[in-house]
Amino acid sequence: MGKLDGRVVVITGAARGQGEQEARLFVAEGARVVIGDVLDEQGAALAAELGEDAARYVHLDVVREDDWAAAVAAAKDAFGKIDGLVANAGILRFNALTATPLEEFLKVMQVNQVGCFLGIRTVAPEIAAAGGGTIVNTASYTGVTGMAYVGAYAASKHAVLGLTRVAALELAAQGIRVNAVCPGAVDTPMTNPAALDPDADPEASARAVDALYRKLVPMGRIGRPEEIARLALFLTCDDSSYITGQPFVVDGGWLAGVALG
Ligand SMILES: NC(=O)c1ccc[n+]([C@@H]2O[C@H](COP(=O)([O-])OP(=O)(O)OC[C@H]3O[C@@H](n4cnc5c(N)ncnc54)[C@H](O)[C@@H]3O)[C@@H](O)[C@H]2O)c1
Repeated sequence: MGKLDGRVVVITGAARGQGEQEARLFVAEGARVVIGDVLDEQGAALAAELGEDAARYVHLDVVREDDWAAAVAAAKDAFGKIDGLVANAGILRFNALTATPLEEFLKVMQVNQVGCFLGIRTVAPEIAAAGGGTIVNTASYTGVTGMAYVGAYAASKHAVLGLTRVAALELAAQGIRVNAVCPGAVDTPMTNPAALDPDADPEASARAVDALYRKLVPMGRIGRPEEIARLALFLTCDDSSYITGQPFVVDGGWLAGVALG
């Protein structure tokens, strides 16, 4: 018996990183998943690996209404219903606020905030029609506190928590629980872009990442995407049956305060 037997969950940004691990874990727990992303090759390869009975890939740019409509149609066509959404797609840009071009600020807002809004707006009626279910939005440590040089990103993630709370209030009567994960630093291409650079020395880049988080995070290490997936699983399955409208920080103690030494 899996924790998600019989469930059908759309996961955005699932071609790699945390979303990929969420897709893998959810399938292992009995769910069928629809992997949405803009990285078509990687997303399709993951779906093929997980098998046609358990996973489908759809091209889903989360800022496009028509892509959302097509993704819902494809999910229902493949698996008959949708009763879960993990809104995980996101992008990060580093810049001082006073140096951030408007275009960059709006791009981050579009993907992280508007993408999440469109996901809720498009998928919640389907979840309600299926008799209820869950939505898990991916916010961030920077959704609950500030961090220099990620102003657009932090603003967008604070907004995701606002959407989460309002959606929880509005959708509770339809049997839909809505929560948010707030990861600290997690070892994915987002935090370690050198991992994607064919010219970078992967060992040197891994050493630099390790050294940084050994100092910053009380638990002394960066998080693993599998550890975020387990929180998303908890919030998607019945173990969290009386929880809605909440942010959950998963950060190795980073937010707890200032660690000396
Ligand atoms: N890695 C971290 O330290 C960290 C910390 C806090 C929050 N997060 C959040 O976790 C989520 C997953 O990030 P990750 O760490 O796995 O990074 P990642 O860059 O590996 O994964 C992000 C995924 O989102 C996809 N994506 C980007 N724009 C998209 C769009 N417009 N439509 C659909 N898909 C799109 C990417 O193609 C990629 O597959 C993001 O929302 C991110 O902001 C990450």
